[in-house]
Amino acid sequence: MKFFVDTAEIDQIKELNDLGMVDGVTTNPSLILKSGRDILEVTKEICSIVSGPVSAEVVALKADDMIAEGRKLAAIAPNIAVKVPLTWDGLKACKVLTGEGMMVNVTLCFSANQALLAAKAGATFISPFIGRLDDINIDGLDLIADIRTIYDNYGFETQILAASIRSANHMSECAKIGADVATAPAAVIKAMANHVLTDKGLEGFMKDWAKTGQKII
Ligand code: G3P
Repeated sequence: MKFFVDTAEIDQIKELNDLGMVDGVTTNPSLILKSGRDILEVTKEICSIVSGPVSAEVVALKADDMIAEGRKLAAIAPNIAVKVPLTWDGLKACKVLTGEGMMVNVTLCFSANQALLAAKAGATFISPFIGRLDDINIDGLDLIADIRTIYDNYGFETQILAASIRSANHMSECAKIGADVATAPAAVIKAMANHVLTDKGLEGFMKDWAKTGQKII
């Protein structure tokens, strides 16, 4: 499973990228707001750091306007994936932009039917939002599993990009289901390293090591 980092914070992207943990980046209008940066500038900077797909989201609601914005965003760098919402207009924009050779990430997906339509429209990525489904007492991971089944049934090449990931548990569950990509905040990716038994074991080793009176260096 590829790891994308869901942020527009340059420091976080650099730290994870240096460790080989970043296969791509996803942003959205809320993350751009949080960064306090200009969308075109920050997206260009991210693309100069990360070689994998960098999702930049359109904000128009009509297909023609989305297409114009998508072309402008895609001109930033060759690794831009234009992000469009899963609306009828977004699907129209997806079809046109992928037809022009751009990568398109169809976002705000909350049902298997929406994912099926995105695949038919030629989406490069479909972004089902796990956490926001969990928030309304619908199991978001079930949606990832359903889309995996449907795409595999028919050989759709659209990659499942699990999004709205809130916990390290979401990451491992997505990997078990077979999501192609998971995009998560940097804190969630770092939390994957944590285990209480690792902490406990390390504490025991450190205590015993101190008793040996030895040094390695
Ligand atoms: O990738 C989508 C993500 O940014 C949304 O996450 O936690 O706001 O639902 P969240």
